[in-house]
Amino acid sequence: MTATGSAAEADASGRDRMDALRRRLGGFAFGGDYNPEQWDSAVWREDVDLMRRAGVNLVTVGVFAWAALEPEPGVFTFEWMDEVLDLLHSAGISVDLATPTMAPPAWLSQNFPETLPMMADGETFGFGNRLHYDPSSPVYRERAAIITRALAERYSGHPALAMWHISNEYGPTAYNEQSSVAFRAWLQRRYGSLEALNDAWYTRFWSQTYTDWAQVDVPAVPRSWMNPARQLDFKRFVSDALLECFVAERDIVREYRDDIPVVTNFMRFYRNADYWKWAREEDAVALDIYPDPGDEDSWVSAALNFDLMRSLKGEPWVLMEQAASAVSQWKVNNVKRPGMMRAGSYQAIAHGSDTVLYFQWRASRGGHERFHSAMLPHSGTASRTWGEVEALGNELPLIKDALGSSAPADVAVLFDWDAWWALTETHGLPRNDFDYPGLVTDHYRPLLEAHHAVDFVSFDSDLSRYRMLVIPNAYLVPDRFVEALTRYVEGGGVVVCSFFSGVVDETNQVRQPAYPGGLRTLIGGYIDEYLPARAGETFEVQFTGAADDGAAGAVTANWWQDSVHVESATVRAVYASGLLQGRPAMLENTVGEGRVVYLGTRLEPAALTRVLLGEAQRSGIRALVTDAPPTVEATLREADGVSFLFLLNHSESHAAEVRLPFEGHDLLTGASVTDAVTLGPLGVAVVRAVTP
Ligand code: GLA
Repeated sequence: MTATGSAAEADASGRDRMDALRRRLGGFAFGGDYNPEQWDSAVWREDVDLMRRAGVNLVTVGVFAWAALEPEPGVFTFEWMDEVLDLLHSAGISVDLATPTMAPPAWLSQNFPETLPMMADGETFGFGNRLHYDPSSPVYRERAAIITRALAERYSGHPALAMWHISNEYGPTAYNEQSSVAFRAWLQRRYGSLEALNDAWYTRFWSQTYTDWAQVDVPAVPRSWMNPARQLDFKRFVSDALLECFVAERDIVREYRDDIPVVTNFMRFYRNADYWKWAREEDAVALDIYPDPGDEDSWVSAALNFDLMRSLKGEPWVLMEQAASAVSQWKVNNVKRPGMMRAGSYQAIAHGSDTVLYFQWRASRGGHERFHSAMLPHSGTASRTWGEVEALGNELPLIKDALGSSAPADVAVLFDWDAWWALTETHGLPRNDFDYPGLVTDHYRPLLEAHHAVDFVSFDSDLSRYRMLVIPNAYLVPDRFVEALTRYVEGGGVVVCSFFSGVVDETNQVRQPAYPGGLRTLIGGYIDEYLPARAGETFEVQFTGAADDGAAGAVTANWWQDSVHVESATVRAVYASGLLQGRPAMLENTVGEGRVVYLGTRLEPAALTRVLLGEAQRSGIRALVTDAPPTVEATLREADGVSFLFLLNHSESHAAEVRLPFEGHDLLTGASVTDAVTLGPLGVAVVRAVTP
């Protein structure tokens, strides 16, 4: 990422702090959330004995312990936590200590009801769940700071402390009066004057001109059909307000100790926080992931999220939570079948994680998540899940040389929260059922299944290290990205960009001359109309190239058509049926040393795959392995000149043979491998290259 001076420095020290953690643990972190406040102290001793048996070296303590640590305002009961930390330390287990500010205690909600978030419909989100706070509430922030400081004061010097876990899964969006006050202040910082705000929000439409800052408030739901620039800014504000809460607590714990990582946990495809911006404030990116074990395809979106997490900082990351088996929040909660948890854990490592951590260590007897699986299930060690957890914990040291390593990629896919929010959160588009994560997945899957290494980039990333960039449906593009993209292509970069991209600027206003505004010169054509398809409508698309160019012949498309008029581009495909019959469906434009391929419609998956893989091949990008089935994943990690090839077979029923790009040793079996390895169903191999 292009980083500012201070962000670059923050990254360097973040890396140092993570290096210190890696050295301290001497291998991959293995463990999970540990909630001893739910159990009496006799159980703690058994916990620690079993943790040792399973190879646990890191546990996250105190995530939900505010009520147990501060039962009354300003009255702290640290004795139990002292005992737990001492006990863990005596067993050689390190602690990721959490600030408990995700779940405020009942006294806070009772004494200060204004800390409770008002929801978009005006109802109060009351006590009894979690996340019941308005991030803009000064009282909430003050009380969160008090408990954070008390914890930092008491435990910063504790020898078990290895990492800080700030709060948990930041998320609430609040519509309280105090949220409006904070939103106003945020807008004043962004725009400086009411005039600039009125311009940015295009308030002459529907007589929305503001004449006093006091008139500006948060966009609550009953006023539907809202100003799209206001909605977009509100999404940005919510992310920033939550980030301020993180930064405030982070800075408090840093005052006491500067040498250990401070992180919070991100979520899969999470809409309410711009994780690119957040990552700059973290020492490492940490992720909670719960792929549905009932969905045999869920490994694809897991892979995408893992690649995104690695890309956010370009560093090894932290798998902070996963389930040992089933979760409990869906209608039907399937178990992870034998081998699935192991494969999913190695999958995270394969994509750059240096940890395998779970929610949670011991299964709760009560509470909403009493049936959420745990490393130690209700049935204790006499359970399949425990057996698999114990086996994995004792197996991970075999691959410890891969720790801290990176994973290079030649292809990048754009994933930006501004692009997401504008496309799906502001309504009033030619169609309002865009699924941004789904569209990004459609573009990512062919590359993953063909065993290409993939990074993700934002509007602010350094593009120069990639040979090819895929831009899925970037309706909003800021000027700075248009400039960066132009430089990238002129310098030889290859771009594959799909329809309805480049349409609006950062204020959600249509770029002129339309369309696609910012990308018009790059795609080499203009669009006079966007035509969403009628329900069930499909179009035949005929590629114009030779039969051997990788994307020849007739295919179908659906969902959308750009009415494209060629300026400088070459037509790669035309519609062979429908309203736009004979008109371009796909363009290719040479710009400087590079080229842009533009898709004006949604091609059937096989055709999109052919286009993407064809462009990768033309760009000289090589897959990590060839001749492996699509349900086999291949990734590479490299450390100190040594390559580690991770191979994972996600099929539950079929073995797979994979031809190897180099000779090596499978670290999990100890066997030498030369031409090929055979992976059983859900099988894993970690091949360390033999260096000449
Ligand atoms: C999230 C939370 C955990 C737990 C798990 C399982 O990731 O951070 O506290 O609730 O989900 O549902």
